[in-house]
Amino acid sequence: MARDAWYKDMNFYQIWIRSFKDGNGDGIGDLMGVYEKLDYIKSLGMDGIWFSPIYASPNEDFGYDISDYYSIHPDYGTMDDFDKVLQAAHAKGLKIIMDLVINHTSDKHPWFIESCKGKDNPYHDYYIWRPSRKKNKRPNNWDSLFEGKAWEYNTQTGEYYLHLFSKGQPDLNHANPKVREEIKKIMRFWLDKGVDGFREDVITFISKPDTFVNDYKMPAVKGLFEYSFGPHLLEYLTEYRQVALEYDCFLLGETPIMAPNRALSLIAEGEGQVLDMMFHFQHMQADCFMTDFIQRPFRLKKMKRAFSTWQNALEGKAWNTLYLENHDHSRIISRYGDEFYHTESGKMLAAMYLLQKGTAFVYQGQEIGMTNVYLENIEDYRDIQLKNAFEIGRKLIGRVKALEYARKSSRGSARTPVHWNNERNAGFTEGTPWFDVNPNYAKINIADQMQNTNSLWHFYRKLLAYRKKPVIRYGTYTEMNPKDRKIYMYERKYENTSVLVICSFSKLSRKYKLPSSYHEGSSEIVFNNYETVSHDKLSPYQVLVIEKTTSV
Ligand code: NOJ
Ligand code: CA
Repeated sequence: MARDAWYKDMNFYQIWIRSFKDGNGDGIGDLMGVYEKLDYIKSLGMDGIWFSPIYASPNEDFGYDISDYYSIHPDYGTMDDFDKVLQAAHAKGLKIIMDLVINHTSDKHPWFIESCKGKDNPYHDYYIWRPSRKKNKRPNNWDSLFEGKAWEYNTQTGEYYLHLFSKGQPDLNHANPKVREEIKKIMRFWLDKGVDGFREDVITFISKPDTFVNDYKMPAVKGLFEYSFGPHLLEYLTEYRQVALEYDCFLLGETPIMAPNRALSLIAEGEGQVLDMMFHFQHMQADCFMTDFIQRPFRLKKMKRAFSTWQNALEGKAWNTLYLENHDHSRIISRYGDEFYHTESGKMLAAMYLLQKGTAFVYQGQEIGMTNVYLENIEDYRDIQLKNAFEIGRKLIGRVKALEYARKSSRGSARTPVHWNNERNAGFTEGTPWFDVNPNYAKINIADQMQNTNSLWHFYRKLLAYRKKPVIRYGTYTEMNPKDRKIYMYERKYENTSVLVICSFSKLSRKYKLPSSYHEGSSEIVFNNYETVSHDKLSPYQVLVIEKTTSV
């Protein structure tokens, strides 16, 4: 798609439906809840919604284990409910993006059930089966990301199947053309309904190597670099891209372990482009190593380097996504900000990422600064990934430290019910909520923040509106003082407008140098999270956004 593709200045709201809003009082978020809140989403300044999976699923991984791609999970409503939401959203000018989870299915998917019946079954080759390497030995030494080793034995076939995630998430065999046809059929089904695009789950994992040899390079997560960006990835993605081109939709890949050079081979605009955008992870690793679980002290320089590298590498060639939260990460104020300076750091983080170049994503509850939840037991977080990480961590670093890491990094913190107001269950449900409500909802909730024009919610709304300016959509990006360990400063420029974004990541007040060109009278402060402003000092977590227009 071209420079002016419709999605480029858009703001998307991500819904993880189970915790968004319960419409029928059974304690579980659903499509009727979404329907009720479409005006809310619109009023925040959104142009679209990305739905994490809402399909039929045994919910071992809350929807990322699909048992029927053509039906809505009964917890969330019916296909009619979906059609109603889609139609109403479109009528309000909101696009709808679906999650496309095609690296794996659920083990309860009929294809897998058939596949297990025997080598001659027509669905056998829909999955990746291999015989034992030696007697009773797995085909190779790969680890799964969610549950033990990556191969599971099946007595019916006498073979092992591959699961990069949990045992209940067997990997599809994209090398089989029949599987690729099924995927195209699924895409067309939803596109024919009128959805506007897909977020493609772990899409860089779909092509496995032709032979499965042992990985001796990696001490843990064995196999990761063998199946990531596999040999036939481009081929498969080109096929799926053809379907997208039949419709005016976009494809957004979730791409773990991705650096910009490689990214360009997928997202560079023009011939050969297979994805419109991608969610990479580099800026989410400023306080951890490899995975969120292995924590390090937050390093601003690492985060700045990640943002700047992507902004610069994609300039004029490809399009960025901008995000700080989603259903897979704990809450950003609790990570990169400061719960003590809740509103201040929340506003600073919002401006810090939303004023960069790219399509913006805001995760449910982020707009009011929902924070991490601290639960007693690992099981309380209801997260298969966390359970696995904790088990590995416990052996390596001991129970106490592993528990601390788990509490800080759990995806569970992003999955507690949204705080709509300060009433019972935070206004999420009339019934019993399926998952713990964060006890701080009386302090942090949507109703209060909508009423208070100084709130984080209003700050998000203003920023989302400001993003429509040409300087934010088209402007260049230049980072200033990249070596500063507490301040992130960058400038956006387009024609005769410049915008300077200054963010303090310090708990203390902090000296800074305002570039002299911004001292002039034509400069205007367009965002400030404090009442005051000083030309040489920033308050804790202060953000200043200064716009300047020069006559041409
Ligand atoms: C990435 C998804 O965002 C995550 O929630 C899921 O667990 C894995 N992929 C496996 O599908
Ligand atoms: Ca419900």
